[in-house]
Parts: sequence; structure tokens; C-alpha cells
Amino acid sequence: MSGITKLRAGVVGTGFIGAVHVEALRRLGVEVVGVVGSSPERARAKTLAPVLESYNALLADDHVDVVHLTTPNHLHYSQVKQALDAGKHVVCEKPLAITSEQSAELVELAAASGLVHCTNFNIRFYPQVQQARALVADGALGEVWNVHGGYLQDWLLLPTDWNWRLEPEKGGTLRAVADIGSHWLDLVQFVVGRRVESLLADLGTAIHVRKRPAREIETFAAADDVERVDAPVATEDLAHILLRFEGGARGSLVVSQVSAGRKNSLRFEVDGSQGALAWDSERNEELWLGHRGRPNEHLLRDPALFARDARARTGLPGGHAEGFAETFKELYRTVYGAVAAGGPPPEPDYPTFAAGHWENVLGDAVARSNRERRWVEVIT
Ligand SMILES: NC(=O)c1ccc[n+]([C@@H]2O[C@H](COP(=O)([O-])OP(=O)(O)OC[C@H]3O[C@@H](n4cnc5c(N)ncnc54)[C@H](O)[C@@H]3O)[C@@H](O)[C@H]2O)c1
Repeated sequence: MSGITKLRAGVVGTGFIGAVHVEALRRLGVEVVGVVGSSPERARAKTLAPVLESYNALLADDHVDVVHLTTPNHLHYSQVKQALDAGKHVVCEKPLAITSEQSAELVELAAASGLVHCTNFNIRFYPQVQQARALVADGALGEVWNVHGGYLQDWLLLPTDWNWRLEPEKGGTLRAVADIGSHWLDLVQFVVGRRVESLLADLGTAIHVRKRPAREIETFAAADDVERVDAPVATEDLAHILLRFEGGARGSLVVSQVSAGRKNSLRFEVDGSQGALAWDSERNEELWLGHRGRPNEHLLRDPALFARDARARTGLPGGHAEGFAETFKELYRTVYGAVAAGGPPPEPDYPTFAAGHWENVLGDAVARSNRERRWVEVIT
């Protein structure tokens, strides 16, 4: 821990998730030197941390060791390049870039730099997800046959719901799949230790014309009394995807940002020859363990009952709830450990830019499959 507490961070973007980054860093004892927003005035209004006047000012500040990018998706590519150029270690929110050409370039630049690089797939750091991965790796489920679930939200259910994610030039040409499907896909490949090899995708847009506020609003912000204009929607609200994994396991997921009542519901289930397990992000302290010849189990998060890797990712005793915010803290604990050690370890236990790029490659396959209405191989 002492190495980590000597390190200092700068956070770019002061919206929904920028605030979560700042708080997680502080809990680890990392000083947040400053934040940069779309304007100094807007950033100051958030009262998160000292406000730096510009991104260039942050990059020029020798006190900043690590740059966190929590800006809208289209800005990640150029901001990562600038940070690496300035010799800063980088934590970048997902998606790493809005095209796989851009993310491939960032992987190469980061590798050549010798700097620590991370794509913010924080959901891997729920203790029960780490426990699920340990159980699969230990063979507790036997041969993995079937991986299924989905990621459902309802915050874009109404035609008046609007966010920059709906604008392809800011969010990318895939929306629900890139925004939340990427988390699900990253997560299940992490849990079962196998990559997706081929897929069949069917994308759908439920609301073809939305009522866009005439001025900009932030993620999850209410915007009841604003002037609105009609805005045609070019990206998907929902998707169904069939998967084949390395080694032959089959899978499927449904992704939706228009499912009433589902606030942030990421669920997966893994069925194997010796047993099954299931996890739900909205009940993240529980892991369901399915058996054929004896009663099923509900494992409540408890460091004393966990495999070593899962135990290392949880702080509080069982029954004292942890959650979303802790996943950021645990991700940064390992990322900053690498920074304190002087560079990336040979086998990072955190998601690097390679993981971010892989999700863009899968996104390309999803778009191609949907467009051509057929199964496609994932082409690297
Ligand atoms: N890992 C997760 O669980 C998770 C959750 C939410 C969002 N995200 C990702 O984080 C990013 C931000 O999403 P959000 O929901 O916080 O969005 P948001 O709209 O709430 O916040 C974006 C922030 O970036 C600022 N900004 C815009 N242009 C800027 C610029 N040029 N320089 C500096 N700041 C600028 C905006 O003012 C705003 O404060 C996205 O890439 C999203 O995919 C990840």
C-alpha cells in the first residue's frame, strides 16, 4: 500500500463515472491532483477536487503519474495518445476507442511506451465474480458447456430520454452493445477463461425518433422542462447475440437499454458437466451454485469462505455490504500496484488496453453479423 499512496492522479471528465474514479482513488490514499472538465466552470461546480484549467495543463504537471479518462467515448483515442506521449500511465474508460483501428493503434503505442495501461472493466472486480472465476478454473463446474445471461437497463426507455451515447459521432456506431454488452462479454470471458470465437447477432431499435433536448445534459440527469427537437436514432436499443467460445462452449446474451424496471441488471449463468453458477449485479453479494444431486447453494460474500483471489478483492467481513464503488477501488489497487512497481507485470491481473481492443473487435463482428444476417468468425 505504501507505494500506492505516493502516487498521484489526474481525472479527465467530471460526470457520473468521473466522480466514482475520484472517490475510489482517495479511498486508496492516492492524491487526486486535479480534475479537468469540459470547461473549468463546469468542473468547479462539481466540487470533486482542485480544477485544472485544461487537459494540456494536466499533462504538463509533473506531479501527475496516472491519467484517468472518463470523457465521452469519441474523446478517448486522442486523449490516450496525448497521455502516453506525455509519459503518463493511463486508465481509460470503456470503450477504449470508437473503432477497432483506433484501439489497435492504442495497444501498440501503450506496449511500446512501457507505461501501465488499463481499460476500466471494473465489473471483473466484484468479489463474487472473482470467486466464480476461481471455481471455474478449479474445475468445480467440470467442463463448461453453456454461458448465458444479459445486461438490461431502462434509462433509455422513454422517447424523451437522451444522452450523448445516442449520437454515433460521440458514442460510436454501436450503442447498447458497446456501452453495456461489452461489460457482459468481457466479464464472461474473464470468468470462463475462454474467448468468443464466432457469433450471430440481431440488433434492434425500439424507438426510431427521440425527443432530443436542445441543450446538452449529463448521464442519468433529469431533464423535464427543456426545449426538444426530433432526432432520428441510428443505433440499437437492444440486441440478441448467440456465441461460440473456444473449446466449444455455447452462449447467448440479451442486451437492452429499454427494459422497464431493470436499472442495471447484469446477469450471467455458467452451466458445466459437474454443476452451475449464476450471478446478478443487482444482488452482487450472492453467488448461486447449482447442483444435480444435492440442494443448491447461495454463497453470501464472506472472505473466510472465498478462494484466495476473491479474498484479496474484498475488504469487509460478510454481511457488511460492498458494491459498485468497491470494484473501482480494487481495480485501481492492482493498477497502481503495477505503477508503483515501475511498469506492467508480465501477466497483468487487471484489464489492459488489449481487453479494450478485444471488445471493439467483438463489436465489429456483432455489426457485421447483424448487417449480413449470418454467423461470423471473430477476426483479429
Ligand atoms: N465502467 C463503468 O461502469 C462505466 C459507467 C459509466 C460510464 N462509463 C464510461 O465513462 C465515460 C463517461 O461516461 P459518463 O456516464 O460518466 O458520462 P457523463 O456524460 O456523465 O460525463 C462525461 C463528462 O465528460 C466531460 N467532458 C466532455 N468533454 C470533455 C473534454 N473535452 N474534456 C474534459 N471533460 C469533458 C463532461 O462535461 C462530463 O462531465 C464513457 O466512456 C462511458 O462509457 C463507464
